[in-house]
Parts: sequence; structure tokens; C-alpha cells
Amino acid sequence: MVDPSPPIVLPPGTVDLASEVVPAVRALLRRGLPDDFVKACVRVGAFEAFGGGYKSELVGGLRIDVNAAMKLGGPELDRHVLLMERVNRTRERTFPSVQAVVKLTGGRRLLFMEQLLGHTTLLDLVYRRRTSMADLDKILSHVFVGVRAVRRTHREQARALARLPRTTDPYGPRLRAKLGAILAGDRELRVLRKKPGTVLGENVPPLDPLLDALDAWLPRALSGAPRTLCHGDLHLGNVMARRRGRGFSVRMIDPNPDVGITDPLYDAGKLLHFAEPVGWATIDPAHCRATLRVTKRGYRLEPRLAPSSAAAERRRASFELSVRDRLGAARRRDPTRSARLELATAAAHVGLAALLTDKKDAGARRFVLAYALRALGAFHRIVMQEASGASGA
Ligand SMILES: Nc1ncnc2c1ncn2[C@@H]1O[C@H](COP(=O)(O)OP(=O)(O)OP(=O)(O)O)[C@@H](O)[C@H]1O
Ligand SMILES: [Mg+2]
Repeated sequence: MVDPSPPIVLPPGTVDLASEVVPAVRALLRRGLPDDFVKACVRVGAFEAFGGGYKSELVGGLRIDVNAAMKLGGPELDRHVLLMERVNRTRERTFPSVQAVVKLTGGRRLLFMEQLLGHTTLLDLVYRRRTSMADLDKILSHVFVGVRAVRRTHREQARALARLPRTTDPYGPRLRAKLGAILAGDRELRVLRKKPGTVLGENVPPLDPLLDALDAWLPRALSGAPRTLCHGDLHLGNVMARRRGRGFSVRMIDPNPDVGITDPLYDAGKLLHFAEPVGWATIDPAHCRATLRVTKRGYRLEPRLAPSSAAAERRRASFELSVRDRLGAARRRDPTRSARLELATAAAHVGLAALLTDKKDAGARRFVLAYALRALGAFHRIVMQEASGASGA
């Protein structure tokens, strides 16, 4: 007799397709899939007539494909789903439609959502494909309509969103923690704490006093700022588009509900973040570098970019201008807006730089940090100008 094979032990955290996903999908089918899901996702994969069938009109074998995107996560996926569903109630198809959330063991959740067939991320469309500026502009218009739908959801369904957190200050603590981690991991960069510098033509004060000034400025600036539901991670990789006729179908994906209700410029900063040359650090990190020169009086950090194609960099630059143009439209109404936008962008850059921990990414990390410092320098300049304007008035 052959010994029964030993049981297969899966590494912790593995999703067991046979014992978890298949029963979950069967349960969904038993419950009956909603009509719009069937329309959007269920396709006849194959039909084979069996022949015969005198009494019946048709007898045959059928295979049905269910196209769904699956996302595995923890209990936070419940809030993720709440956000997507509520926004879609305000404006259909802003996010992929949610089909089901299945609870697995250990607090894990499996989200089934509409699979966006034939869609490409906006990151790819800007950086990797030869998308025309006219097309990128059309897609951007959809993104801004989506962002407005997220805000409307907050106004119209505030009670339903009560479970989402309110983040009073999404910038200060994050900047301090992540900048601290980056400087701690690169001895040469510690000079940035105590000395002033120049980065991309912007004067950057020493970071220690700058962060202290930020702590003093933020509560006042943010108390006057609007608060709204935010997407929470609106970078270009979280926007997906597909050509439809002369236009595009555009969806947002992957919101971060832990940001919740906060300064609307949080989303604007994320959008601008990958539109600046920093986007290259995720596409082509090997070509992103920065040189640091330190003198007695201060430092100079110069990011150097050698993208694989000059045309691609030109396309990115026009896309950045277009994003800036749209974000600048409301600036005049709110004097602290420009300063908050710089901060939001700096926070997004610093978040990315902190993720580039691998030794081979050291150049790209400094490259991204340079753009964060430029934004912090710009923030400081705007705040100082505002203060001198106010005292002179
Ligand atoms: N509904 C969907 N239909 C088709 N593709 C999808 C869908 N959702 C996600 N994707 C693809 O999977 C990728 C990763 O998904 P998602 O952004 O949700 O994951 P993530 O791990 O949270 O990403 P990140 O943290 O990098 O933003 C997306 O960039 C997109 O290419
Ligand atoms: Mg994502």
C-alpha cells in the first residue's frame, strides 16, 4: 500500500485557493449574482453543442467565465469598501463596483470587485505609453470629476461615513517621522537637519527648525481649511483608464480610508506627486540620482535625471503643467492653499522616499528627497511672504 501523502502545509498568510476562494465564489453564485455584475463580468467562455436533443431546443456544454478582481486584506478592507460603495452611490462607476466581501480566517477579508478589463493605469499612460496630451487632458478631466464626486459624497452621505477617521493633520507627523527615518538611514544626509541648502533653485532652511515652524503653523492653517472625504491615495497608479470611442472610461481604484476626512489638498498633493519628475523614480529608478555637495555655509542637492527617452520626459512635463493648472484654479480664494499644496506634495514625496530602503535605490531615494525638500522650501517661502505681507498690512 502506498503511504498517504503528507498534508500540504501552506506558509502563514497564504490564500488557499481550493479551500477558501473556491467556496467563497460558490457561495456568491448560490446567492445569485446581481444583474449588473452579470452584465459587467460574466461572459460565456465556450459553448459546445452536444447534438441530439429532439424535445429540447438546445443541449450543450457551457463554460462561464466570471471576471472579477480580487483583493486580499485585513479588516481595513471593510472601510475601503464602504468608501467605494458610498462614492459610487453619488456617482456611478467612480470606483469599480463591489461584488462581495468574504470574511476569511484570521480577520482577513477577500474583496471581489468588478475587473476593469482593458484599462491601463494613468502612470503607464503618462510614462510608458505614447499617450497624446489631448488624451491625457481628457483623462484628467474625469479624475477631477471623480474627486468632486468624493467630496459630494461627504456632503450628501456624511452619516454613513461616520466610521471613517478624521485626520486633523495629515502632514506634520508624517513628515517628521518619515524624514527622520530617511535621514537616519543615510549618514551624509544628516547635515540637512542643521544647515540650510539649495535644491532645484529653492532655498531650504535647516530641517529641525523648519519642522518646528511647521508644527506652529499647521494647527492655525488647518483649522481654517475645509475638511472632506478624500480618496487618500490618489497617485497616478490608482487611476485606470480605457479608451471608449473618442473619450475614455476612467475609474479610481485603491482608496486609503485611513486618511478619511481631512484637507482636500491631501489628494491634490498625491496627484501632483507622480506628475513631478519623481514619477520616474518608480518607473526607472536606475536613472534617478542626486548629488550632494556640502560646504561650510550649507549644502546643495541636485537631482539628475536621465530618462530613457527625452520625448517621454517632455510628455511628463506637459502633463505636470496641466495638473498644476487645474490645481491652481482655486488658489486665489485661499491664501494658505499654495502653502498646503506644497506640504501635501512634500508629504507624498517623503512617503515614497521612505519606501526606497534597498541599497540599490539609494540614488533614487535622494532624487525623490530632493523634490520633497524643494516643496518644503517653497512652503517656507510662501509662509514667510504671507507673514511679511500680514505684518506690513
Ligand atoms: N478592479 C481592478 N481591475 C483591474 N485591475 C485592477 C483592479 N484593481 C487593481 N488592479 C490592478 O492591480 C494593481 C494593484 O492594485 P491596488 O492599487 O488596489 O493594490 P495596492 O497593493 O494597494 O497598490 P499600491 O499600494 O501600490 O497603490 C493596480 O495598479 C491595477 O493595475
Ligand atoms: Mg494602488
